[in-house]
Amino acid sequence: MAILITAKNLKKSYGKGKNTVHALGPIDFTVVEGSFTIILGKSGSGKSTLLNLLSGLDSPTDGTLVVAGESLNKLKSGKLAKYRAKIGLIFQFYNLLPNLSTLENVMISSWLKGISVSKQDATSLLKQFGLEHRINSNIKTLSGGEKQRVAICRSLINKPAILFCDEPTGALDTANGQIVKDILVKLNKEGMTIVMVTHNEEFIPMADKIITMKDGIIESMNTQISK
Ligand SMILES: Nc1ncnc2c1ncn2[C@@H]1O[C@H](COP(=O)(O)OP(=O)(O)OP(=O)(O)O)[C@@H](O)[C@H]1O
Ligand SMILES: [Mg+2]
Repeated sequence: MAILITAKNLKKSYGKGKNTVHALGPIDFTVVEGSFTIILGKSGSGKSTLLNLLSGLDSPTDGTLVVAGESLNKLKSGKLAKYRAKIGLIFQFYNLLPNLSTLENVMISSWLKGISVSKQDATSLLKQFGLEHRINSNIKTLSGGEKQRVAICRSLINKPAILFCDEPTGALDTANGQIVKDILVKLNKEGMTIVMVTHNEEFIPMADKIITMKDGIIESMNTQISK
């Protein structure tokens, strides 16, 4: 299987001089194409920092990071934006745009990235996720579970090479968390590479690789052969 992510001696710190916060690293790991990786660890252990580097929202301070053939530590901001167009991102609190409809939320990020998406494709994706009755609703009127499904549609519309998720079920009740979990597991079974930060232990049996973070470094890394 091809390696999709390689992190070597990866580090991230914030601030300067006496105020420097060493948020991450050094860490080393790889992610194989089509696999499901979960990142566990206590609050402040560096999980979101790592995900932000992987998804191009932030740049490493040191080390090398290659994702889907792109050396992220070398990319300038314009190229980073292009890289972000190739990946999908899901957040705990959805990061949808208020006052726009479900359909507009799915289409707008593609417009911003300069990718043209047909209304038909967006509608058919929303239908696949059981949102046909919500297509023209104002996003504010949707439940948390519905919002997260919209966010998943928004990230899938660009056919991403990889999906990064930061606590995707963290704000959902058990039933909606289960629905979102089932969607992500199904996407992985269909071939999507997923890297997910989570506190939800129900994802553990689904993972190929479990990375546990502590104080900015990898405390343990387990590969599950039979999931
Ligand atoms: N922009 C920033 N400036 C300064 N310090 C930061 C910044 N972002 C994160 N940190 C620090 O880096 C460390 C790791 O933070 P991070 O957000 O990665 O933790 P986390 O594991 O995602 O925690 P949580 O489970 O609470 O989301 C923390 O000490 C945090 O305070
Ligand atoms: Mg976090």
